[in-house]
Amino acid sequence: MTKNKTVYVGMSADLIHPGHLNIIKKARELGDVIIGLLTDEAIASYKRVPHMTFEQRREVIENIKGVKQVVPQKTLDYVFNLETIKPDYVLHGDDWKEGVQQKTRQRVIDALAQWGGKLVEVPYTRGISSTRLHAAMKEVGTTPEIRLKALRRMLRVKPIIRLIDIHNGLSSLIVENTYIDTPEGRREFDGMWGSSLTDATAKGKPDIEAVDVTARITTLNEVLEVTTKPIIYDGDTGGRPEHFVFTVKTLERLGISAIIIEDKVGLKKNSLFGTEAGQVQDSIENFCHKIQIGKRAQATNDFMIIARIESLILDKGMDDAITRAKAYIEAGADGIMIHSRQQEPDEIFAFCRLYNQFTDRRPLVVVPTSFNQVTEDELADNGVNIVIYANHLLRSAYPSMLQTAREILTHRCSSECDARLLPIKDILELIPGGK
Ligand code: SPV
Ligand code: MG
Repeated sequence: MTKNKTVYVGMSADLIHPGHLNIIKKARELGDVIIGLLTDEAIASYKRVPHMTFEQRREVIENIKGVKQVVPQKTLDYVFNLETIKPDYVLHGDDWKEGVQQKTRQRVIDALAQWGGKLVEVPYTRGISSTRLHAAMKEVGTTPEIRLKALRRMLRVKPIIRLIDIHNGLSSLIVENTYIDTPEGRREFDGMWGSSLTDATAKGKPDIEAVDVTARITTLNEVLEVTTKPIIYDGDTGGRPEHFVFTVKTLERLGISAIIIEDKVGLKKNSLFGTEAGQVQDSIENFCHKIQIGKRAQATNDFMIIARIESLILDKGMDDAITRAKAYIEAGADGIMIHSRQQEPDEIFAFCRLYNQFTDRRPLVVVPTSFNQVTEDELADNGVNIVIYANHLLRSAYPSMLQTAREILTHRCSSECDARLLPIKDILELIPGGK
């Protein structure tokens, strides 16, 4: 009896459309179809985390007519699976000859040559694209539950998560929609930071918890209405423990993924003032109590309470920072944020080295505002899981608005600054649905 030929097809299979079915149909004509289903990690290495989990995608693809077997493909690169399975054919759409997957394609051809296998390319199905389906899904929106869970899913599969500040609906649209295409794939922000500094500043108030939780939630609601990406909320000190439970419940209900609370008491001042603002750190005992009471208030296991350590900000030393990290994790914190106001990342990296030895290590968050020459790769190499660009959108908007105001005052006419501004036609069309 002759053995059937085998055909290997690599797929993400997130949103199945007729293009996928066409590929499987063509593969079936050549032999037994083995789907190499890309894991979430493999997909996240070059584009956004898929909507469906690996198990959900596996269930869908296993039930498609003609699929004989589904195996996980753990990297964008096919070679490991191909050398294990040694298929007679690899079948792929012809759209990968250019762009991110060009090199992957060449490595497939070279691997197949070892045992005389062949790459078969079928014409890309026009008119249906996953990219357009993803855009349509964004328009439909998301649910609080899906959005809330997105952060934990990303933490599982991405080497580092990139967030930037939001302070109103418009800034959040920039975070939602801005991307660049690079040789390694599409690069975008993974989510949003509900900064207390930029939210308060946008409201013309200082960053001292004078903007109360209700007003902060109003900003979040603006953002939630027009975006789908996960949000981490800057909870300042979290307030009194008795009040903190309500904040946790509200955020969880809205679909916010996490809150970060800082271990300070009394009138909160912005950390970057350091010791000159007379800030007081909370006791370990009190802050652990706040974490515990917050964790008990949650309705799900998905919401995260991240404890922010101010020891380096307040010159209390590394030992204090590490002691607190251990205590906060023991109290139930789902992550640690370590903050610094130094110009260099040295003390942050020193913290990372000690922190990475913890047996119960949790995700680590860093906000490189003062040590801003540090790169995402360096942070990731040091074990940082989330990097927050905490205030950069508002800081870029303000000088531009100020310049415009000054120019109009100077010239008593607006034509001088017009060339720098968004054209009227563009602002009318910036938000769809206005016409
Ligand atoms: C914020 O963005 O409000 C923060 C970060 O808490 S920092 O301003 O550095 O304290
Ligand atoms: Mg803040």
